[in-house]
Amino acid sequence: MTTSKESLPTQLVDGMGRTIVNLRVSVTDRCNFRCTYCMPADNVEFMNRSNLLSFEEIVRVVNIVSKMGIRRIRLTGGEPLMRKDLSQLIRMIKDVDLIEDIAMTTNAYFLKEHAQELKDAGLKRLNVSLDALDPEKFKEVNRRDCLEQVLEGLKEANRVGFKSIKINAVAVRNFSETEIMDLIEMGRSDGFEIRFIEFMPLDADRSWEREKVLFGHEILDSIRKKYDLVPVDNSLDIGPASEYNFADGKGKIGIITAVSNPFCDHCNRIRMTADGKLRTCLFSTNEHNLKDLIRNGASDEDIGKAVHDAVLIKEPGHKINLDSFEQPERAMYAIGG
Ligand code: 5AD
Ligand code: SF4
Repeated sequence: MTTSKESLPTQLVDGMGRTIVNLRVSVTDRCNFRCTYCMPADNVEFMNRSNLLSFEEIVRVVNIVSKMGIRRIRLTGGEPLMRKDLSQLIRMIKDVDLIEDIAMTTNAYFLKEHAQELKDAGLKRLNVSLDALDPEKFKEVNRRDCLEQVLEGLKEANRVGFKSIKINAVAVRNFSETEIMDLIEMGRSDGFEIRFIEFMPLDADRSWEREKVLFGHEILDSIRKKYDLVPVDNSLDIGPASEYNFADGKGKIGIITAVSNPFCDHCNRIRMTADGKLRTCLFSTNEHNLKDLIRNGASDEDIGKAVHDAVLIKEPGHKINLDSFEQPERAMYAIGG
């Protein structure tokens, strides 16, 4: 039964005064890739399907949190397009009055087939994971031989009219160096914003070491050997990336210094896993079980209160740079990027 929401706040503000406006919703932990920085090579144990929130359950949560100030939804995975009828979920979220933006992070493999229908359903923005433009290096990092299919997916997304497509490239030392300029040139010619994300300790193989991170300042240095960059003033719309325009006016890049200069102080997001656990930080070591609340007949007010209480104790920041750092049990594919 739905109770009055009068007692719930209309804004989600955490204990540090950060206002939360973004919810990232993982719709599945399944993925057709096996990226080295995310998944194990084989023998992956996926969530039991009965534990995945249904579209109705997801939209119920979206509806509740929209009344508490959430304005932007990003669908993530695993690979979100591994979930059947994803466009249907997008249409359902679009119908939630207060939601202003629906985005998705994808590996682009299925975009060739689905870009048009996603656009028609109301998906506004796309981030595509693409770490290498050399087919052999693509295969090495993604453990799948399908660069062509990904590039075709990107092309189709462009063709159906997605604007400002961003490309996420995880920056790994002794791997990414050769790919930086090729990605940059593709971004400049095809109109994509390339964003380099420092490799974070969220890999299932648990092989992360600080020495394996290619740092943002090193990436900027190498780009600056060829192009002048002008920092973008993002003070009005702070996101995790530091952005730079090419001085010649042709395009933009982003650097996400998740390890060397974390964005935690400005974090405005929370996450929900595909099995309905609310995580207030990528690196949370505890979770808030919304699925059990939902399936045990909790009211909208109870669910809203659980989200509110969780946000109040949102972690001030991650501890990658401290000795006390503990890698979360879930790897990226099971958290949702
Ligand atoms: N470190 C940094 N970024 C990662 N991603 C996945 N795993 C990691 C990691 N260990 C990125 C992917 C994807 C997004 C969801 O997160 O590139 O674009
Ligand atoms: Fe799949 Fe994304 Fe993880 Fe790669 S990073 S294995 S594409 S979920």
